[in-house]
Amino acid sequence: MVMTDTQTSQLSGLSQQELQAYWMPYSGNRQFKKDPRLLVSAQGNYYTDATGRKIFDGLSGLWTCGAGHNRPEIIEAITKQMQILDYAPSFQFAHPKAFELAHRITDFMPTGLNRVFFTGSGSEAVETALKIARAYWRKKGQASKTLLIGRSKGYHGANFGGISVGGIGPNRVLYGKGVDAVHLPHTMLASNAFSQGMPEKGEHLADELENMIALHDASNIAAVIVEPLSGSAGVIPPPKGYLQRLRQLCDKHNILLIFDEVITAFGRMGAKTGAEAFGVTPDMMTTAKQLTNGAVPMGALIARQDIYDTFMEHGGPEYMLELSHGYTYSAHPLACAAALASLDILENDQLIDRVQTLSPLFERQLHSLKGGKHITDIRNYGLAGALTLASAPNEPALRPFQVAMKCWEKGFYVRYGGDTVQLGIPFTTEADEVDRLINALGDAINELDDD
Ligand SMILES: Cc1ncc(COP(=O)(O)O)c(C=O)c1O
Repeated sequence: MVMTDTQTSQLSGLSQQELQAYWMPYSGNRQFKKDPRLLVSAQGNYYTDATGRKIFDGLSGLWTCGAGHNRPEIIEAITKQMQILDYAPSFQFAHPKAFELAHRITDFMPTGLNRVFFTGSGSEAVETALKIARAYWRKKGQASKTLLIGRSKGYHGANFGGISVGGIGPNRVLYGKGVDAVHLPHTMLASNAFSQGMPEKGEHLADELENMIALHDASNIAAVIVEPLSGSAGVIPPPKGYLQRLRQLCDKHNILLIFDEVITAFGRMGAKTGAEAFGVTPDMMTTAKQLTNGAVPMGALIARQDIYDTFMEHGGPEYMLELSHGYTYSAHPLACAAALASLDILENDQLIDRVQTLSPLFERQLHSLKGGKHITDIRNYGLAGALTLASAPNEPALRPFQVAMKCWEKGFYVRYGGDTVQLGIPFTTEADEVDRLINALGDAINELDDD
């Protein structure tokens, strides 16, 4: 529906003219501005839109708000912090909560990952990881180790390093030459379609790393970066044994393994991290999103202690910087307050246990959509799930968009990306909310045109 200026204004308080200045990220700006979907408030698992409708949050914001929206504990923590210290420089000075939070984050990490570098976002955490990987080898006297290995269908944020190791075509093609990187094959095998949880086949795909090493030589390779479960490409869980194999090969050839856990860390996999869920510990891990329950932007890179120690040992005089890198908003006091409150909620409300309890129902319900119109695959792990829709003629991304719009009309927010529709429900979702979401999604799909 295309709204007139009066209609838009009545619904949102914004005129068509006011809607123009904001260049929306990763959005169809023209379509949106004709028919805005404005979220004006939120509580628990629901948004309220500009017309007063309650919208179930089927993606926890953007995989951010697993503990539900507007948590009083987080509001209180941020408010209190704001009254004490609004900002502190993060270069050469610091505030106590930064240390408290770094220490607290290590409680959620696999053994050995215990040095935390704060950033303002997931993309910045990725850039930090890639820069540290290269700098680490240089500090160790192996300056030729610079090549980065990502994976097809990987998403590692929107910055130049991240899109270089990333493997989603549209995110790269406009921007020319990036950072030197090559890509492992993705793990979405047609023969694994409709797998529940981790697929059986695909461990062998990790062996492609051996071929890459034969071609480029380990003496030129800094790191491999993968999402343990690919989120943005449409929830692709790792095949059984795959991450273990990557770990073995990285160890064998002295290559750093980085897990990008911006979506998977802090509960969504039914474990503290994807590393814990899948039983493989990387050398560095990137996180963001659920760290603050989405309330204040923040990312964090967590590294093995000996990586940190390498920088300290080769740092020169003690007053000198060991790593020339950081952000104005690294360890922002409000973000630290929000993250401390958010991690407390995860623990106090036993939300990770809740994810484990809810996951089988979510899996069952999501896979009950098998056989629905145009559905060619359904995938899930923890409280992340997605389905793939066959392309409409010459329009690969059209059907997921149409499904998401129909869901929106029915009062459900779901994500559409490429040929997939994605779900990342709040950890606080009730069983009947899962039922209603899946019913609405199923109806939306079956309302699609046949061809
Ligand atoms: C795996 C992964 N890495 C990095 C990012 C980028 O995070 P941000 O959007 O906070 O920069 C995302 C965002 O979705 C992500 O899913």
